[in-house]
Amino acid sequence: MISAKAPGKLYIAGEYAVVETGYPAIIVALNQFVTVTIEKSENFGSIVSQQYQNGSVMWTRQGDRMIIDNRDNTFNYILSAIKLTEEYAQSLGRPMETYHLKVNSDLDSPDGKKYGLGSSAAVTVATINALCQLYGIEMDKERLFKLAAIAHLDVQGNGSLGDIAASVYGGWIAYRSFDRNWLNSSRHQVELNKLIQLNWPQLKIKQLNPPANLNLLIGWTGSPASTSRLVDKVTINKGQKQHGYQAFLQDSKKYVQEIIAGFKTENLESIETGINHNRLILQKLSQLTQVDIETPLLKKMCDIANQFGAAAKSSGAGGGDCGIMILDKNINAEKLIQTLQKNDVEILPLKVYEVTKLN
Ligand code: PMV
Ligand code: MG
Repeated sequence: MISAKAPGKLYIAGEYAVVETGYPAIIVALNQFVTVTIEKSENFGSIVSQQYQNGSVMWTRQGDRMIIDNRDNTFNYILSAIKLTEEYAQSLGRPMETYHLKVNSDLDSPDGKKYGLGSSAAVTVATINALCQLYGIEMDKERLFKLAAIAHLDVQGNGSLGDIAASVYGGWIAYRSFDRNWLNSSRHQVELNKLIQLNWPQLKIKQLNPPANLNLLIGWTGSPASTSRLVDKVTINKGQKQHGYQAFLQDSKKYVQEIIAGFKTENLESIETGINHNRLILQKLSQLTQVDIETPLLKKMCDIANQFGAAAKSSGAGGGDCGIMILDKNINAEKLIQTLQKNDVEILPLKVYEVTKLN
């Protein structure tokens, strides 16, 4: 039996700005996984997902039309990953197989709690990794990232792909998004196996080592949010607000660089300062675009964390999901955790996950 697992992630800093080519973010991989197993079969294959068995879809109305948002349906990412990996395997001359593919996800927890740790990225990475094993294709992190980025973009169409990078590389990473317009045009001009060997303009993924005294706490608000819809809204509304938006981008880059420097010099204080600054500019972006990033409960979480000497902000697209808090390990976090729990913020007992080998 072939099996591959890929971790979920959380954004630490740089979100929204990282959607623009060349802007950086910091992301961390966590020990919650999507696992894909494959078993060869004879006459027919199957694709079964433990968490998505009821086959229901959500839709909205636009005038007379029923709009189904494919981006929220995990099956589309699985199918896209299969299609792309088989195209790649064929280009390498591998004969095609028939198989049963099973997906199991901690990221969509059994009691229906969705923490917002990015299951679409992890399912894409795990599916490609498992299929590469089936077809005997040796993978390294860079090529796995590139294949998964293409397969994911084919479904979602927007986004920075930072979640894919975190899922492939593991641990703490500094990620800079590549030029997706370049990729779109290159896809039709360059063969897939050549494309994933090229240098992608602006792409940069670097692993970071946290200072020994860094303590990361994750606060869950209990309300799920749709990243792709929030990103759409920011994209639509930023149009008329170019001046403020450009200022946001520059500030975000500056604070992410400050945080990265803090990792390099093992200086927790500059990491915390960078996080607090990043929070403030996300609040400004929220006012500018009228998108609810730091919800009232996330604000409460940040304010409580600040009182206990922790830096804090919303994580990722916000609008619910999780917030992050960073504090010195030498500070006793018990009281902080209790206070958060009394205020309806659940602390997720997750750990940073390092990817030591791909299979
Ligand atoms: O909400 P999350 O954890 O999926 O993070 C989204 C981060 C954004 O920068 C808003 C979007 C992206 O694709 O990077
Ligand atoms: Mg989210």
